[in-house]
Amino acid sequence: MTTPSFEYLLTDEHRMIRDAARDFAQKEIAPIAAEHDESGEFPYDTIKKMGAMGFMGIEVPEQYGGAGMDTLAYALALEEICKVDASHGTIMSVNNSLFCNALTMFGTEEQKQKYLVPVASGEMIGAYSLTEPMSGSDAGSMKSRAVLDGDHYVINGRKSWVTSAPVADLILLFTPTHPERGHNGISAFMIDTTQPGFSRGKKEPKLGIRASATSEILFEDYRCPAENRIGKEGEGFKIAMTVLDAGRIGIASQALGIAEAAYEASLQYAREREAFGQPIGAFQGTQFKLADMKTRIEAARSLIYNACFAKEHWKKTGERFTLAASMAKLYASETAMFCAHHAVQIHGGMGYSKELPVERYFRDAKITEIYEGTSEIQRMVIARTETGLR
Ligand code: CAA
Repeated sequence: MTTPSFEYLLTDEHRMIRDAARDFAQKEIAPIAAEHDESGEFPYDTIKKMGAMGFMGIEVPEQYGGAGMDTLAYALALEEICKVDASHGTIMSVNNSLFCNALTMFGTEEQKQKYLVPVASGEMIGAYSLTEPMSGSDAGSMKSRAVLDGDHYVINGRKSWVTSAPVADLILLFTPTHPERGHNGISAFMIDTTQPGFSRGKKEPKLGIRASATSEILFEDYRCPAENRIGKEGEGFKIAMTVLDAGRIGIASQALGIAEAAYEASLQYAREREAFGQPIGAFQGTQFKLADMKTRIEAARSLIYNACFAKEHWKKTGERFTLAASMAKLYASETAMFCAHHAVQIHGGMGYSKELPVERYFRDAKITEIYEGTSEIQRMVIARTETGLR
């Protein structure tokens, strides 16, 4: 196997976190990944250890419990974890991209001390809740409500597809406070899941990323202190979208990890498995598949690194990185599916068997084309940005 593109541009710090994540994934996650995929049991022990290693708040400044590194460091670490197990990657990504990023960007000093420190340090688990049963891609059309009552907001409604909800200590919630104002009437709140009025629905039985826990959450007259509103009233939609831009770089990195795992397994199998008197990798039918997989992987990597640099640029200038993040997520997720599909085909019957992880890569890859904005939504965002039309 050859050196990945851009290897020579990485700093010592980037290599250090990537190698630490690779090592951890191989030693601690690889032995349990298939078992947790089968049982759907949440991997508490390894997630705790990932917190202790600084993987649950990589970009969070050190004074708030994080590792104080840049976006590329986060992408590299996530890629390595997902190369071994996308379920661990999902839990890590929501904690980092959607929860910690939101508080780092939009939290007050007090909110950071109270909510960011425990989640970035891995002591608590954070989640993000935007989707509702009747509002997924059309995120602005939520039916839940928060009504101000003195110094509290009273929250009612039902949210769905909340990654890590069954185990989360804290959830960043988006809900309308002034529905008549459309996008400008949505606000963001920090939800303490131990408080009355909050409950969890049934855990979703999923095709892939089965060890990451997903469920509905329900609010029945949940009283949220006004001081737990993140950002100003009406700023919620912009917070949700800005945070999703960051999240999409994470999902792209997850997809890259899955694609690489599928490719590397295929490469090895193509060299070892023989048919008609030669390794199957000597047949053009296999070679073309491997060539397309490798090329797409390196193209995805370029788009992801570009998005990482665009996000760093945003930190200094405020210039949005929406386009770069959407292109990276779109291409990398379709690459993950492409590579996993070819990997199963190259492995033949063994690709369909649970004896090898290839079928798991295939099931895990699919979600990257769906969550944090489907491929259709990414195409819409890219085209709208480019044309200025909608
Ligand atoms: N950054 C900052 N602001 C943004 C923005 C961004 N990326 N995107 C939009 N906005 C702003 C716009 O500028 C606009 O502001 P003004 O009113 O001041 O002009 C406002 O938000 C409304 O924007 P649009 O008119 O473009 O909104 P829209 O209703 O047409 O929707 C959309 C845009 C891109 C389709 C958006 O709804 C979207 O991304 N949908 C997909 C939602 C999604 O990804 N859901 C996944 C949730 S998380 C998950 O999967 C589960 C999990 O646990 C991981």
